[in-house]
Amino acid sequence: ALTKRAYHPRVIDHYTNPRNIGSLDKKLSNVGTGLVGAPACGDVMKLQIQVNDETGVIENVKFKTFGCGSAIASSSYMTELVRGKTLDVASQIKNTEIAKELSLPPVKLHCSMLAEDAIKAAIQDYRSKRKTTVLK
Ligand code: FES
Ligand code: FES
Repeated sequence: ALTKRAYHPRVIDHYTNPRNIGSLDKKLSNVGTGLVGAPACGDVMKLQIQVNDETGVIENVKFKTFGCGSAIASSSYMTELVRGKTLDVASQIKNTEIAKELSLPPVKLHCSMLAEDAIKAAIQDYRSKRKTTVLK
């Protein structure tokens, strides 16, 4: 049973050595925050991006995830994927890309979905904040 449930080494790697863990200041006008939960298991993921307003490039990214190893690994890997990307490119990232890299089994696919939802929510938050700043 242990072997069947064993995580892929890349999951273990991100889980034991998560990249970009932490928080950014939500009050900054160029920080977007995505906070999403998985109804299936109750896990929660917070992903934050700091964006260059001129270029639309994600210059900094942090996450905090309360969840299983796959959810933590998915968010950690997501932060690596989006750093240095434009918002448009980052919003195209699919959970299947993450699931493939981490070799997630079908029951853990929703963990990678959480990472896709989180980046989309963070981008949306940044964009709506920016709109209100411009209108002011
Ligand atoms: Fe939530 Fe994975 S079921 S920890
Ligand atoms: Fe629910 Fe991983 S996020 S089991």
